Amino acid sequence: MDCDTGFDDAVALLVIDRASSFELVGISTVVGNTTLERTTANTLAVVERFGIAAPVHAGAAKPLAQEPQTIEELLGGGALGTVGRSFPPPRRRTVDSRDAITALTAALERGPLTILATGPLTNPAIVLNLRPELAASVERFVFMGGSATSGNHTAAAEFNAFADPEALDVVLRAGIPVEMFGLDATRQVPIGPGEESALRRAGTPNAELWADHVGFYLRMLDRRTPRPMALHDPTAAASLAWPELFELADARVEVELHGSRSRGATLCEFRVPTLAQPNARVAVSVQGEEVMRRVLEVLRAS
Ligand code: BDR
Ligand code: CA
Repeated sequence: MDCDTGFDDAVALLVIDRASSFELVGISTVVGNTTLERTTANTLAVVERFGIAAPVHAGAAKPLAQEPQTIEELLGGGALGTVGRSFPPPRRRTVDSRDAITALTAALERGPLTILATGPLTNPAIVLNLRPELAASVERFVFMGGSATSGNHTAAAEFNAFADPEALDVVLRAGIPVEMFGLDATRQVPIGPGEESALRRAGTPNAELWADHVGFYLRMLDRRTPRPMALHDPTAAASLAWPELFELADARVEVELHGSRSRGATLCEFRVPTLAQPNARVAVSVQGEEVMRRVLEVLRAS
């Protein structure tokens, strides 16, 4: 798993570890929601708290062709905003001596590998640029990012796509089996005050910790009034745990690299193969309530 932890990346990590049948062989970090230093520290804090054994590898500190576009001021608390408690800083877990590029390359050499990416795609793009033949070892490339309609970071672009559009372009052109969980899918999985209360009622220290983070997430746009928010990264993770809750459609996905207002926008042509050759499967329909119910169970039992 490649991530820029972040509250929702943390939930995604837990879903993979607790609810999927995948063996989590490694976690790599990337600049995105916040600096590489913070996404790595946040990831270490999460794996330590929840006893996730996979090694953590630090990855790219800069996108391929632009400066970092971090949003920690929006996300609060070094991208792990909270209305109460936060993850204690890691005391035992440290970063692995191998960086993300080395570790991901080695894992692909052992291949085949499923990659779940919940941040900007800089790390996998670097590996695919350096070793294009390793594309053959990517069994599935599942990522949260993009949108077939409107954006969230800009009117046109979703954040992960906007934060490194050149990297997304590399992945889309690599000839690997890409599965895109964009905003059209994640907006079908809202988390709201009901989930915050359910976590508080669970009464365990971990459930309360999650409630404090969910509480911040729901008040991110308006400090006084909690409002339902899309649960982004866990939706992509949930597709690996519970594929029966998702419907995907073949599409040709291309990312805008040059538009002065539309940089990072993902254009999804669903009329394939008539008008274009497909290069991805895009999540179009999600049983959102059921995904949310199962994710909540994972958090409650954590
Ligand atoms: C994506 O952007 C980040 O802020 C979230 O962690 C998620 O990966 C949603 O656009
Ligand atoms: Ca993320």
